[in-house]
Amino acid sequence: MKTERELILAAYEAQRYSYSPYSNFQVGAALLGKNGEVYLGCNIENAAYSPTNCAERTAFFKAVSQGCRQFEAIAIVGNKKGEQGDYCPPCGVCRQVMAEFCHPDEFKVILARSPEEYRVYRLRELLPFGFGNETMVNGYDAWQRHHQS
Ligand code: THU
Repeated sequence: MKTERELILAAYEAQRYSYSPYSNFQVGAALLGKNGEVYLGCNIENAAYSPTNCAERTAFFKAVSQGCRQFEAIAIVGNKKGEQGDYCPPCGVCRQVMAEFCHPDEFKVILARSPEEYRVYRLRELLPFGFGNETMVNGYDAWQRHHQS
């Protein structure tokens, strides 16, 4: 089991690989699978802009494409190149991807602005009243019961 600090340091390592020549905003993520593996991700930009992939989704898609679908936590760091970091909350699309694979009350989202300063959130705090497969199948009440059990 990785400590929160180890996961944050891994996110800083991932940030070094950020490909962000258009925004110069460098994001790194470290995703801890329940298998104990850590999957690193960085943002990957594109001249056409919309193909850009966020660091968090890079980490998730790496993990899922390598057979891991269960997760404990993700650490995220982000800042403009060469500037002091501040908390970098995940975008809405990345929150939706997290919701596809992670338990809303258990999965931890760790936002760090330095290796020492960080905040820990549960997914439900960041994506309340989210849309999921269960919403389509059984309706929202059933979805709530499913995730509370
Ligand atoms: N970005 C991420 O990597 N994660 C987020 O959650 C928000 C935004 C990236 C996308 C783009 O490369 C840059 O930050 C500026 O939006």
